[in-house]
Amino acid sequence: MMNSKVHELLNQQINKEFYSAYLYLDFSNWFKSKGLDGFANWYLIQAQEERDHAMLFYQYLQNESKTITLEEISKPDKVFETGMDVLKAGLEHEEYVTSLINDIYSAAEEIKDYRTMQFLDWFIKEQGEEEANANGLISKMELFGSDPRSLYLLDKELAARVYSAPSLVL
Ligand code: FEO
Repeated sequence: MMNSKVHELLNQQINKEFYSAYLYLDFSNWFKSKGLDGFANWYLIQAQEERDHAMLFYQYLQNESKTITLEEISKPDKVFETGMDVLKAGLEHEEYVTSLINDIYSAAEEIKDYRTMQFLDWFIKEQGEEEANANGLISKMELFGSDPRSLYLLDKELAARVYSAPSLVL
């Protein structure tokens, strides 16, 4: 059964995921201001995914009849010089989120809260994909970012990303 520590961490994760959405909206806005609409689209969809993640934690706590406390969302305050800076900040952020998910999992495992562990399984896999995507963007930028024509084509590729709802349904 869920204890107060796991409950608190799950509640905090709602805020962390909404912050992630906020952060990626900021990234999207940065790229938009540079005329890179494809990158802006990619992060706009990423922000939508983060809102979905937040709502999955919210829904899970509701399903478990646990209280939910919505906290203030911090301001994204990083200043970026280059697109590569943004992409690297994205990877760093996803690695941080992975550590948060792992911490909740460990806390649940400690008290044999199997239901929460099973709920988190989806997020463990998702974080693998999130980090792979962030790494992929960095690799592409390294390869193509310095040539304007290649960057234009990469931006076009990222413009094609479309939103799809999460595969986890609660
Ligand atoms: Fe909600 Fe990008 O992890």
